[in-house]
Amino acid sequence: MRCRNIKPKEQITGYVPPMERWIENIPIRTYMEGDTIFWISDTENIYEAPAFFNPAMGLNRDLAILSVKLLSNIRKRKIRFFEPLAGIGARGVRLVNEANEAIEESVINDFGEISTKLAAFNRGKLKDNRLIQFKREARALMLELAENKFKYQMIDLDPFGSPAPFIDFIWSLLARNGIVSVTATDMTALAGVFPKACLRKYGAYPLNNERTHETAIRIVIGLVARSAARQERGIKPLLSVSTDHYVKIFLQVQEGRGKANESVSRLGNVFFCQQCQWVGFEYPQRHTKHGKLLKAGELWKGELFDQNWNRQLLELLPNVNLHATKRIEKILNEAIYAHDIPYYYAIEEISSYLHVNTPKSKKIVEDLHSLGFKACKTTFRKQAIRTNAPLWIIEKIVRKDT
Ligand SMILES: C[S@@+](CC[C@H](N)C(=O)[O-])C[C@H]1O[C@@H](n2cnc3c(N)ncnc32)[C@H](O)[C@@H]1O
Ligand SMILES: [Zn+2]
Repeated sequence: MRCRNIKPKEQITGYVPPMERWIENIPIRTYMEGDTIFWISDTENIYEAPAFFNPAMGLNRDLAILSVKLLSNIRKRKIRFFEPLAGIGARGVRLVNEANEAIEESVINDFGEISTKLAAFNRGKLKDNRLIQFKREARALMLELAENKFKYQMIDLDPFGSPAPFIDFIWSLLARNGIVSVTATDMTALAGVFPKACLRKYGAYPLNNERTHETAIRIVIGLVARSAARQERGIKPLLSVSTDHYVKIFLQVQEGRGKANESVSRLGNVFFCQQCQWVGFEYPQRHTKHGKLLKAGELWKGELFDQNWNRQLLELLPNVNLHATKRIEKILNEAIYAHDIPYYYAIEEISSYLHVNTPKSKKIVEDLHSLGFKACKTTFRKQAIRTNAPLWIIEKIVRKDT
């Protein structure tokens, strides 16, 4: 594929050569994540660092490594990976080191002065010419790479805040049926604290209630689906994660108008009762006892997880030495078991509505199993469960288990 590039990568504006020695007057130190050692700014507060690196995103980087390995196994080819907002290059360095056999090229970019230098230094230490680096405004770089016919099987968008300003620029860089991974950290917008910001950036109204973690994910998928559809592509979510201070989604892109139409047809609203935990994608004919329902959207109404993809990720997990293996295992187990169950139930809120003490989620899950329903704890929120049982059964069990 590389031979069809119009310009070689070294002639693309902003190409950065590796740096052999650290000559900046800024203290740095080593940091280990997964199986990789790299250099970061030596500051107490990550937000004061001259080059941004967030240790709390280890799980996010782990998932990229695991996904690249799986994609390479499935496609039986090495993967070209692109990260337009790469900070100090931790993900790119880890990929080449930890997903070594799966990587053809890992391309990183950031417009930060010190981030770029630190990433160049990390590259110098790694000494692997498959790690390529640019220093450029991300959108300008994406346009130039696309103009020169560069293609990547996986693109990872990891911005400060919202992916909305960048998402439209990735499509002409994505190889056929490529994978897109998107992080969003602007939870005040997505969780409905600033609904106008969410409408502006994502074209959707959020809702600040106990289901907001899932609504946020569905809003971000909606953004990606609309952006992909404009380029006559459809999307299928593979894995959706809500954790710490961010949401993260991996999506399989599907080519063609028909697929684009299919994914756009899965956009719509979600309705919530303001008193009990009733939720649904259609406005109900009968749920009138609690007054008017609240609405969020338009958002993704389809599944958040692909069972087959996550089964394969789980199989790979024991062979990789990641930073957050235990948490990933929980996330994948939920994604496999409850892939077809939308919207979790928050047990504390059900208990409070029923005026009873909050029972243990574990006990509720067991009782639902004994009645033949699917049920599991969710990783999206504490004391919350996914189940296919109807609400009246869940309420009955909460009353009994209290
Ligand atoms: C959340 S950090 C990336 C962290 C990184 N992905 C990691 O895993 O460690 C976002 C980065 O995007 C960079 N950035 C923000 N806007 C940009 C733009 N328009 N062009 C290039 N880089 C940008 C910032 O300098 C920052 O380093
Ligand atoms: Zn109700």
